[in-house]
Amino acid sequence: MRHCLSLKDLTKDEILELIEKAIQIKSKIKNREDYTPLKGIILGMIFEKSSTRTRLSFETGMKRLGGDAVFLSPRDIQLGRGETIEDTARVVSRYVDIIMIRTYEHQRILTFAKYSSVPVINALTDLLHPCQVLADLMTIKEKKGNIENIKVAFLGDGNNMANSWIYAAAVVGFELSVATPVDFAPNGVVVKEALELSKTTGAKITLTDNPQEAVNNADLIYTDVWASMGQEEQKEKKHALMKSYQVNKELTKFAKEDYIFMHCLPAHREEEVSADVIDDEKHSVVWDEAENRTYAQLATIMKLIGRD
Ligand code: CP
Ligand code: NVA
Repeated sequence: MRHCLSLKDLTKDEILELIEKAIQIKSKIKNREDYTPLKGIILGMIFEKSSTRTRLSFETGMKRLGGDAVFLSPRDIQLGRGETIEDTARVVSRYVDIIMIRTYEHQRILTFAKYSSVPVINALTDLLHPCQVLADLMTIKEKKGNIENIKVAFLGDGNNMANSWIYAAAVVGFELSVATPVDFAPNGVVVKEALELSKTTGAKITLTDNPQEAVNNADLIYTDVWASMGQEEQKEKKHALMKSYQVNKELTKFAKEDYIFMHCLPAHREEEVSADVIDDEKHSVVWDEAENRTYAQLATIMKLIGRD
């Protein structure tokens, strides 16, 4: 049995296959084909943090392909009243066929997966957000034709999105430049593992505190909120340090002329990104990116439960 907890657990070929599958699923859903490969499959969805896209994409995706989904909030289940993560995993996995979890410490999902008798998908932890980057890679494939010969610039906070991009670059072998203030650099263990993996995949990963250097000649500029869920108390400090990392028209001049802009959303206009960048339909692909969550996740679910 396999889980999907981190992109580093996938090979490059598996990522490419998932993207192809996601593109096929998208076409079938868009064409309203009679396609129900998830008939009889129930997804359990545990959310310990808020969500718009993740909940909607998983839930509607399951229903579109003939399956079903059960939303579990800690307010309603005993997990929120102190039932252990181990016992919750043992019990929930007796009722459903596959589980997605959004939680805080990454260790919680590792523990959950250890005690679950069905596959577990990481729907965001403080450390990683692999479902988002799979959808992002699918979007790049649609917009640029490939995900290998690209330069990605990630700007702002060295958070779960930055860490996930670092693993993605390391596995797939593309160029990634991450610009953050020194105090908010990406996770050290993630960086070390990614640099090791890059030796075999040819990825070029650089960390800098210089936003222009990161954006220079980039095909894709990516940013995310400066204060992630659960870090609200650091907001002021982060905002003061990250001002010069805002993705705005001054900065996008350094990218390739046909660059695309992406953001996992939700966005805070005039903080990490100016309104004229995120709303610039010539370059910004954020709505397609959000939609693609559905297809990338359905491809992942089908792979994990062995449906075709
Ligand atoms: N990008 C993303 O995961 O959005 P939600 O927090 O709305 O699920
Ligand atoms: N870094 C953000 C991503 C939200 C999808 C957070 O963790 O809040």
